[in-house]
Amino acid sequence: MLDGTVKESLYPLNFHITPTVGLLNDPNGLIHFKGVYHVFYQWNPAGTTHANKAWGHVTSPDMIRWERQPVALVPSESYDKDGIYSGSAVEKDGKLYLFYTGNVIEDDGERRSFQCRAVSTDGKTFEKTGPLFEHPAGYTRHVRDPKVWFEKADNCWYLILGAQRDSEEGTALLYRSDDFDDWHLQGELFPQAELAQLSQQGYMWECPDLFDIDGNWFYLYCPQGLVPQGTHYQNLYQTIAAKVEKKGVGEFHFPPQRLLELDWGFDSYAPQTFVASDGRRILYSWMGVMTLEKESAMPTQGEQWLHCLTVPRELFVRNGHLCQRPVIELTQLRQEGVNFELESGFTKALPQTGGELILDIDQAADFSVAIGKTMTFHYSQANQELTLERLDWLTEAIETRHYYLTGLLTQLHMLIDRSAVEVFVNGGEAAAAARFFEVAQPEIRLEGEIKGQGQWYSLGRMEVTEEMNVL
Ligand code: FRU
Repeated sequence: MLDGTVKESLYPLNFHITPTVGLLNDPNGLIHFKGVYHVFYQWNPAGTTHANKAWGHVTSPDMIRWERQPVALVPSESYDKDGIYSGSAVEKDGKLYLFYTGNVIEDDGERRSFQCRAVSTDGKTFEKTGPLFEHPAGYTRHVRDPKVWFEKADNCWYLILGAQRDSEEGTALLYRSDDFDDWHLQGELFPQAELAQLSQQGYMWECPDLFDIDGNWFYLYCPQGLVPQGTHYQNLYQTIAAKVEKKGVGEFHFPPQRLLELDWGFDSYAPQTFVASDGRRILYSWMGVMTLEKESAMPTQGEQWLHCLTVPRELFVRNGHLCQRPVIELTQLRQEGVNFELESGFTKALPQTGGELILDIDQAADFSVAIGKTMTFHYSQANQELTLERLDWLTEAIETRHYYLTGLLTQLHMLIDRSAVEVFVNGGEAAAAARFFEVAQPEIRLEGEIKGQGQWYSLGRMEVTEEMNVL
């Protein structure tokens, strides 16, 4: 059991949501409800292992000033006694509903999962109302992570679940409700024959999300068990952003395509999206997922906390392609700024509260941006390639990830927190998230052949009111 909250960290995060203590994983229940942004997250308040999962909860008027709320859901009932697993939130008739998976380990070691709901009128205290339906036949206990939304075109509620067939292939299930209370299994979300055509299906799909932006449908999901292919699928588990289609009522299709990662960095998993009051579709991901060995060696273990969420990213569509950029609200964190001509040798010490670097590139051959001694982004114009190199804190070897551009590199936009960086490429065509750990204040260094204009800002801390101490 952990005691107290983390006061001082050698690796403080200033504009990324972290737990006070313990382990954070997936973002859950993202919603803008009665003028307030709610972010819930998978949280083990009692240790830095993947156990005792509850829903931590923070709220904000603007995604910048946050208030910690009492833990929203903890394991307590026969149907969720071993973990309140991931899920989502919707508003109906002025109430906030949370959908989650109750994880249960029976006395004989058998595991079960229940798809459950809880309700709140004030957005702070939640009443559990229990499981919604029976476990579907033909699927193992790996059925979880309900994502719920009201589909105007079909005039009904949908609930999708990540699932594993008895035959151990990953898939997703689609449920429908007309009255919000009776949920009916429609079958698998996509035709089985279409999934059989994918280059790899994996053995389990976690955290599904399905939405449209201006009529373009996208399906985000986290397949486990993809085999690395070239520079793809290098992380422990993947997040794939697939372009899908909706043809009729409840009829979704997964056309043949290359399965592309939502983020090409080391640390991004279990994303969830929601719609802001002004209609923007916003995404948070967990900056985590790694082998247990690597997780146990994370430098913040000694400080009794692990992991963070990404910054909120606005999703938008350009030429049919799903793009991501940091939400505009984050510019409120900007403090002192400088504009400069891009040239080799530019350096800045990373402030303790983080910084932002924007490179608008007119011409470049090979150049690199280094963050201290542990992380470097390289660009090779000849290969139209971006490479991210990081010193692995477990093995102390260099590990790499790659992104191949569709054209020239015109912009790199980096949000650099004290132990996390997110980079956005060419105004949102691609994004990469990665943690790094350096005790000494790192220096940001630009080297190589590059021409254009740069902007540098030191960033301020996100305000977090520590309303409550943990539980
Ligand atoms: C994804 C995941 C989910 C599950 C949760 C448990 O990271 O494994 O599928 O609901 O984490 O914490």
